[in-house]
Amino acid sequence: MRPGGTLFALVGSLMLLLLLRLLWCPADAPARSRAVGGGKQRGHWWYLGCTEDALEPDNPSTTHQEQWYSEDDYLQIITNIQRCPWKRQAEEYDNFRAKLASCCDAIQDFVVSQNNTPVGTNMSYEVESKRQIPIRENIFHMFPVLRDATSQPFVDYPYNQCAVVGNGGILNKSLCGAEIDKSDFVFRCNLPPITGSASKDVGSKTNLVTVNPSIITLKYKNLKERKARFLEDISTYGDAFLLLPAFSYRANTGISFKVYQTLKESKMRQRVLFFHPRYLRHLALFWRTKGVTAYRLSTGLMIASVAVELCENVKLYGFWPFSKTVEETPLSHHYYDNKLPKHGFHQMPKEYSQMLQLHTRGILKLQFSRCETA
Ligand SMILES: *[C@@H]1O[C@H](CO)[C@@H](O)[C@H](O)[C@H]1NC(C)=O
Ligand SMILES: *[C@@H]1O[C@H](CO)[C@@H](O)[C@H](O)[C@H]1NC(C)=O
Repeated sequence: MRPGGTLFALVGSLMLLLLLRLLWCPADAPARSRAVGGGKQRGHWWYLGCTEDALEPDNPSTTHQEQWYSEDDYLQIITNIQRCPWKRQAEEYDNFRAKLASCCDAIQDFVVSQNNTPVGTNMSYEVESKRQIPIRENIFHMFPVLRDATSQPFVDYPYNQCAVVGNGGILNKSLCGAEIDKSDFVFRCNLPPITGSASKDVGSKTNLVTVNPSIITLKYKNLKERKARFLEDISTYGDAFLLLPAFSYRANTGISFKVYQTLKESKMRQRVLFFHPRYLRHLALFWRTKGVTAYRLSTGLMIASVAVELCENVKLYGFWPFSKTVEETPLSHHYYDNKLPKHGFHQMPKEYSQMLQLHTRGILKLQFSRCETA
């Protein structure tokens, strides 16, 4: 153990005790458990399929990690949280949403549009922020116009009930599909399968689905020989918008534009959107003030943050960063494949502890188990 390790372990167990106390069914008042995580611990949702584009450079935050608690400690915390009935806290929700709106403003800024990015803009990349791309007409015409239903998704904002669907193995046999499909707006991550036997667990309605450029490169071979398969897979998403981080890394730009061109040439119903790099930078700063110091936010946290601004009620499905259920049943990495998590459980990701806090404060609801079916 490194010299700091004992101290971390000590502080860690004190915090765990504090957290357990705070989370013990906090009567009607929301738990104010601010002291989750901290220090050098950094988290990434590598296991959810809501993680990063593989085109990014080696992630420096995945080295030098401190393990604070065991997976079993966290499962115990979640068991306790689950015992408490969840109740939406309107005031907490409004406060949190107002903070997000003032830092980041998803309504205007979440995607690049013709409104927020005029011709002649020098667009700075999200991560490689010293690099710029000049926005000329040929790029500008790919951008949607705000509040135009054919090119932009959030014309009916605010939505009442939104579902953010992660890809965790916890969704296998969850029977959450019907509930998810009843939502007014459904977000999904990285082109997950929604047809066949999966649909009863994850539903099929999709309003917006993120695309990591790496899936285009690896699974669809840059849309060369696998183009037909890509179009076939995309057609399962109905009228969904495909969201790509075109301006996060320079390596993402060409492949994102290729997706745009391919869908346009093939006259597909689905539309392409690009994350605005400024929105993502502001959002990362916002979460940094809450202790999320990861190299880059996971797509799951980005989308959940957008959903809180755009929706009155947000429910998260399939976000479960553990290798087993609270009943100790081993889980697969994703609901759609049998791969086990590659690294086992390293640490409690900072991001997930933030999600747990939002849950206990009544701001959003995490679905931890099977859905009730009527
Ligand atoms: C963008 O950068 C170019 C070249 O550096 C410069 O000539 C131009 O004035 C910049 N445009 C804006 C709007 O800042
Ligand atoms: C889903 O869970 C069952 C066990 O309940 C398992 O046999 C099956 O392989 C899992 N499916 C996937 C895709 O992980």
